[in-house]
Amino acid sequence: MASAIVVGATGILGREIVKELSRNPEEWKTIYALSRSKKDEYPSHVVHKHIDLLSSADQMAKDLQGVEAEYIFFTAYLQKDTEQENWEVNGDMLSNFLTSLNHTKTQRILLVTGAKQYGVHLGPPKNPLLESDPWLPIPPYPPNFYYRQQTLLHTFCAARPPIYWTVTYPNDVIGFATGNFMNLATGIALYAAVTRELTTTTNKEKLELPFPGSPTFYTRFDTFTSAPLHARFCAWAVRDPRAADQAFNVVNGDAQSWVDLWPRVARRFGMVVRADQFSKDKTGGGGGGGGWEWEEGCAGRRELGGAPPVGVVAEEVGLVGAGVVEEGGVLEQRVSLVKWSGKGEVRVAWERLAEREGLQRDVFGKATWAFVDFVLGRNYDVVQSMSKARAAGWTGYQDTWEAFSDVFDELEEAKVVPKIR
Ligand SMILES: NC(=O)c1ccc[n+]([C@@H]2O[C@H](COP(=O)([O-])OP(=O)(O)OC[C@H]3O[C@@H](n4cnc5c(N)ncnc54)[C@H](OP(=O)(O)O)[C@@H]3O)[C@@H](O)[C@H]2O)c1
Repeated sequence: MASAIVVGATGILGREIVKELSRNPEEWKTIYALSRSKKDEYPSHVVHKHIDLLSSADQMAKDLQGVEAEYIFFTAYLQKDTEQENWEVNGDMLSNFLTSLNHTKTQRILLVTGAKQYGVHLGPPKNPLLESDPWLPIPPYPPNFYYRQQTLLHTFCAARPPIYWTVTYPNDVIGFATGNFMNLATGIALYAAVTRELTTTTNKEKLELPFPGSPTFYTRFDTFTSAPLHARFCAWAVRDPRAADQAFNVVNGDAQSWVDLWPRVARRFGMVVRADQFSKDKTGGGGGGGGWEWEEGCAGRRELGGAPPVGVVAEEVGLVGAGVVEEGGVLEQRVSLVKWSGKGEVRVAWERLAEREGLQRDVFGKATWAFVDFVLGRNYDVVQSMSKARAAGWTGYQDTWEAFSDVFDELEEAKVVPKIR
């Protein structure tokens, strides 16, 4: 029997770790779920504690009185406007938490970070992404708060044997959460539900769901992380000696593209994908001409600028002058969801839909449109290798479409989007 502390218990990844551990009271006798808000009801062996990781050390020590466990999962995250601020705030939150907690019992501290480890937010990386890939030097690359968090954690554990660390690198998480910072499935589901509402009410013959992202990325590869799968990984890794003092990619185990996923998304929400959805001269969502034109004023394009992460290995792997390093990354959207979600017609359609179907009204305003624009708009692959985890004994796998489908069901149950079927 063990006990656990999950910091960031209401987040898209932390919530699932609490759920996964709490399913097994024979193994996990007490689970402390820590966050500022409380969003779920818990069984009796899960104890929710309010904590503000930005509060003073005294306050935090007071809030953490009596809280100790063998296994600690740190998934808290605050998104700031600049990388420097992310570095400061997210590093400080981890550092202050670790120094405020009583570590008499601690055996392992698991930190959740992500694929930004490889600079995937900066431009094309070297694929596949391996845990042994070099960290990006600062400069020329911007500060990366994962590096500060991991360095802090390594130092903290090294000074307190026998406490070990484990770090995970998930990517483009598929999970359920409300009011968080990066939420792919909710954004897609809301886009689909409102597009359907708009199309139905303008009497279009066919219900069509245009892929809002980049035509380039439609056929490129991404590796996603199902939040429940990531939670199973964490529950396994935190106690496995082979995962001690190791960092791991944690993705589903398949490589996916929107060519395969988007037609399924369209069908799931009762729509189809238009055969020529990427033609340049189409202006209508279902037959051109009158009615609401879904593309109008909504296209987006931005060069990411700066040195792409693949540059760090360009000399070693023979990519100097090959184009990819020199050209860098581009984000492109046929329908930028940031722009689309701000349109008057779209907001009116959402209000009407929410009212008619009894949906949670505030979810549309809280959707993370810029994040969805980013995930769907890249012009480069992001493929994380699972070889290291498999060699260490991990056998978990999750089909990516099934992960999306499960979350869409959950979003319907939670009245974030209406039931279509
Ligand atoms: N979401 C993704 O698609 C994704 C992809 C790859 C990597 N990641 C990484 O995974 C990690 C976890 O992110 P996430 O997406 O799971 O985050 P999230 O869904 O936004 O959740 C963040 C959690 O942190 C808690 N928190 C924030 N500020 C706090 C504070 N001052 N005091 C106490 N708790 C606080 C929040 O709870 P309260 O607000 O209730 O306090 C919440 O439980 C991050 O490093 C992120 O970069 C995420």
